[in-house]
Amino acid sequence: MYRLLRPLLFSVDPETVHEWAVRTTNLLYPLLRRLPRVDDPVTLAGIDFPNRVGLAAGFDKNARWIRVAEALGFGHIEIGAVTPRPQPGHPRPRLFRLPQQKALRNRMGFNNEGVEVIKARLQEARPRRIRVGVNLGKNADTPLEQAAKDYQKVMDGLWHSCDYFSLNISSPNTEGLRSLSQVETLQSLLAQLRPQRPLFLKLSPDEDLQTYRQIGERARDWGLAGIVFSNTTARRDHELAGVEALGGVSGAPLLERNLELLRQINWSVPLIGVGGIFTGLDARRYRQVGAELVQIYTGFIYSGPGLPRRVAAALKGNP
Ligand SMILES: Cc1cc2nc3c(=O)[nH]c(=O)nc-3n(C[C@H](O)[C@H](O)[C@H](O)COP(=O)(O)O)c2cc1C
Repeated sequence: MYRLLRPLLFSVDPETVHEWAVRTTNLLYPLLRRLPRVDDPVTLAGIDFPNRVGLAAGFDKNARWIRVAEALGFGHIEIGAVTPRPQPGHPRPRLFRLPQQKALRNRMGFNNEGVEVIKARLQEARPRRIRVGVNLGKNADTPLEQAAKDYQKVMDGLWHSCDYFSLNISSPNTEGLRSLSQVETLQSLLAQLRPQRPLFLKLSPDEDLQTYRQIGERARDWGLAGIVFSNTTARRDHELAGVEALGGVSGAPLLERNLELLRQINWSVPLIGVGGIFTGLDARRYRQVGAELVQIYTGFIYSGPGLPRRVAAALKGNP
């Protein structure tokens, strides 16, 4: 069914399709909620997840899609990135398909409605089985040295209504943000935060091995609940050589390198694997290199609404 619909959807601007799909599926929720669930409970960082598959950050920036994500079989959803104040993000168009590479390129720039609006929505979307993480962002006009204050404001506003936080220091679309991945800077940033929920760290796939090794070694001592690996890439090598430089690329080009890095580094905390998952087999490969949970964004756009249920089923009973 989705295979038939996709050429039509792919003929329209991606962000317009996204908005339309979110509205339409919300209207269809009374039907969608009857779809069968995939129960494969797993506990991580003290949180009981109904299965191992999540919707990655950036799809539901404003917490409008939690119930639909649950109905489609996701066991968790990372909303946001949320910044303290609402912000428009970069001018459109800012989301592009790269069908040859089975990828997307985006330079959204943390467009979101801000803590207050999102707080109300999170409270409306209750009760729920799906676990909700909040991807923490900083406003574009907040100086980097004050990033910790922004992250803390989002946590203070939303902790009552979520299960975990994911600290986003890895978006290529907020100027200077990735410099927070340098180990000393990161250490001092983390020391300023008082998370009321388990705190995961979302990393970029573009750091060098030394940085990953240092973060891996220290993650447990820093009190992190886990690592979310990875965000989009700013690299333009191999099959991405001819791709426009602005923005981050997601999807298939991330898969092999992410698996290799997860395998190579001794991470002292649990892993959530994300990047280039299009099939149950891709997700099982993340499990084989140590990921407890996986998340999907681009694969969902290309493969359609059946993917989360297929992936959750493939992981069930396949440790
Ligand atoms: C349009 C778009 C917006 C995104 N926004 C965010 C974001 O706000 N915060 C974040 O941590 N990751 C964001 N991401 C990255 C995804 O969460 C995910 O890490 C990345 O796309 C790799 O997974 P995938 O290959 O399954 O898409 C975004 C990705 C896309 C395509």
